[in-house]
Amino acid sequence: MESTVLQFYDQLAGEYHLMFADWTEEVTRQGETLARIIQSHLGQANLGTPMPSVLDCACGIGTQAIGLAKQGYRVHATDLSPGAVARARQEASAFGVNLTFDVVDFRALANKVSDTFDIVLCGDNSLSHLQEDDELYLAACQMRARLKPGGLLLASIRDYDRLLNPTDAGTADPGLPGQRGTQMQQKPRGTMPQVFDDKDGRRIVFQIWDWAGDGRSYAIHQYFVHETQAGIQTTHHVSRFRALQRHELSAILTRAGFADIQWQLPAQSGFYQPLVSARNL
Ligand SMILES: C[S@@+](CC[C@H](N)C(=O)[O-])C[C@H]1O[C@@H](n2cnc3c(N)ncnc32)[C@H](O)[C@@H]1O
Repeated sequence: MESTVLQFYDQLAGEYHLMFADWTEEVTRQGETLARIIQSHLGQANLGTPMPSVLDCACGIGTQAIGLAKQGYRVHATDLSPGAVARARQEASAFGVNLTFDVVDFRALANKVSDTFDIVLCGDNSLSHLQEDDELYLAACQMRARLKPGGLLLASIRDYDRLLNPTDAGTADPGLPGQRGTQMQQKPRGTMPQVFDDKDGRRIVFQIWDWAGDGRSYAIHQYFVHETQAGIQTTHHVSRFRALQRHELSAILTRAGFADIQWQLPAQSGFYQPLVSARNL
């Protein structure tokens, strides 16, 4: 059964790292990549002491928030899911980095976040959970309101432009780091299984996507299959994404008052998803 977004990520909080070959390495890698990207936008001159402040408003278990804290950024990390935030707190302490955390819906950041930041980050396709333009507009306005004048928004979404408008049959969606989507006729039906050799047996991770009749959204079924000596154990979680295209998000950011909106594809940015940058000028 399809869960609410909050239920989905609360259920996933203990398993989210299993989507990666080695989540700990991923935290470091993504932190380094994002730090390079931020530097390219803000310039070296703005990276003195104190380091820029970051609000990661969809921090989840902390992949980017902890990674950026490791790079010296001052990070406040928030998320809709109390389970994800609780796990992120534990992980931050395991990494030995200092971050502050809170549970907040990014459509209502002002309810709990009063500071303004040099950077607001919303990574990993989080915005695509919002199905309607008005909700996206609300979220974009809330993110802009938490930026200092001149501040930088960074948000990443899955490459729906490529998924919905494939130009060549062999082109696959990079999905999560390490995952590639299958190109099947009109709409992809999921991601290719990733097989990891854990100490206690194989771990197989994949998604199945059920598209809505209007083609605008899909239910995502996230599967984790563990082969252990005790047998095969499967967990399965269901949520929904809108297939949000870049021009749609750009229009919403413009409407919310952002300026200098630019997209970078993974080949340009080094980040694993298309990444939009926008300024609060
Ligand atoms: C794909 S996960 C990415 C998590 C995180 N970036 C990480 O790598 O650990 C998407 C995150 O967006 C959060 N999210 C979705 N809708 C949200 C909302 N309206 N407000 C705040 N967070 C939201 C989810 O709870 C989830 O943790």
